[in-house]
Amino acid sequence: MSLYGLTKGTPLEKKIAALAQGEANGVMMYYALARLAQEQGMDDVAKTLMESADQEAVHAGFYATLNAKYPKDFLALLETIKKAEYSGEHQIKALADEVRAAGFTEAADQMEIFAKQEKHHGEVIDEIFKKYQPAKVDTTGKKVYVCPVCGFEYVGDLDAEPADWTCPLCGQPKSAFKEKNSGGLTVKAVKLYENGFMTRPFALGGEDGVDKFDPTVKYRSSLQNFVIDTGREVILVDTGTPESFPDQVVDDKTQIFLGSRIEVYIDALKRAGYQPEQVSKILVTHKHDDHTGELAKFPNAKIYIARAEADAMKLTGDNVIRVDFTDGAYHNFPACQKIADGVYYIQAVGHTTGNSIVIAEGEGIFYLMHGDVTYTDEALYENKLSVVFEDKAAARETLDRVREFVKNNPTVYCSTHTPLGYENLEAKKIVDLSNPPKPIPPTEIAQNKATGKYVCSICGYVYDPAEHGGVAFEDLPADWKCPRCRQSKDKFNKA
Ligand SMILES: [Fe+2]
Ligand SMILES: [Fe+2]
Repeated sequence: MSLYGLTKGTPLEKKIAALAQGEANGVMMYYALARLAQEQGMDDVAKTLMESADQEAVHAGFYATLNAKYPKDFLALLETIKKAEYSGEHQIKALADEVRAAGFTEAADQMEIFAKQEKHHGEVIDEIFKKYQPAKVDTTGKKVYVCPVCGFEYVGDLDAEPADWTCPLCGQPKSAFKEKNSGGLTVKAVKLYENGFMTRPFALGGEDGVDKFDPTVKYRSSLQNFVIDTGREVILVDTGTPESFPDQVVDDKTQIFLGSRIEVYIDALKRAGYQPEQVSKILVTHKHDDHTGELAKFPNAKIYIARAEADAMKLTGDNVIRVDFTDGAYHNFPACQKIADGVYYIQAVGHTTGNSIVIAEGEGIFYLMHGDVTYTDEALYENKLSVVFEDKAAARETLDRVREFVKNNPTVYCSTHTPLGYENLEAKKIVDLSNPPKPIPPTEIAQNKATGKYVCSICGYVYDPAEHGGVAFEDLPADWKCPRCRQSKDKFNKA
């Protein structure tokens, strides 16, 4: 028979809980002692102590089961644990860096291994999910509470739990839990590249000319796209670079460097907590490779893309929806298409001739995912266009409308090419045009080895000498143009 919850709610519950905690502490103690034994050359003692530790771990789990400390549908719980494990990798890596900076190299080395193991724990759960799917928890008519630290979801009446009840995953007190707004919409970043940079002339010089801006001023750059979870469906905004996209090499002419790849799009999406099969819709801001790279990887998704952009990409397939913006105005934007409750696909041309933006509304906040209307937020605040546009007048009009919108509506500005994109999102920072962010210069820029390939900084076209009879990019004639977007040679970056 199942022992689950036998002692829960009985006079034994408190004693069993104390025992569970005592055993858990025992695990920590024994492994600490085993480590000491190893350091002192007593490997046999270490082995024995670890055996004891493992038994204590079994005991702790046993008592926790008696008291129903964790929900019986543990597969659903694994979903939450998975997110914690994946984010644990980053947290521990960051802490390892601090430990290293403090001069404790050996400890930092060990922690870096642990960080990788946290990621592995997440991957293990992904493997489990290939075989066993958690049952969808039916929350109709029930309250759902969310732990602000680890994301654990409690379904039912939290008020009925004892006052000393804590989050079973991370130990946060009951009072920290927030009731989940049913039907509430959330936006998350899908993080793809980090530690890049862009120059001020690139980011701001579109109208005034690049020579008006100090080329030595650089801003941080990154690449991320966004995912909207409406509570009913999962909607992507753009799908990153293609998996095969080569790494870029930096030299003194580089105007924008995406940074180094964190992971490929599908893995980054999983890290944000979503499987490709869950995605029902993809909203494409524009045709460039860093926004459309993995469009083909979503078996159940309809792709919404402005007609002009779909035609430019020559997209075919039953799942491609060419959007004509037939739902009228959205606030001060003349033309939109409603995608779901609170989710709007909005015409905003200029960067490309079929450019669009996406606005998602949640709890009174407008999340503006604008693709490349600006590359860094400084351009929004300083009211400047970047050097990349297909229609300058239209790009100006779009930036004017975006600025008017953020002035009149509480907006979180979700950018693609600056870490401010996810920093704003994570802090739910509302744009205040009169209060620009303090620019943060880029640090630790990864230098990659040259492959002979070059990438168009405008459209993402990859020049691979192997596909051009072995002709090196450097040997192409000076008037050679990008075969895709007709930009000149100097717009290409080493890859
Ligand atoms: Fe773009
Ligand atoms: Fe882009």
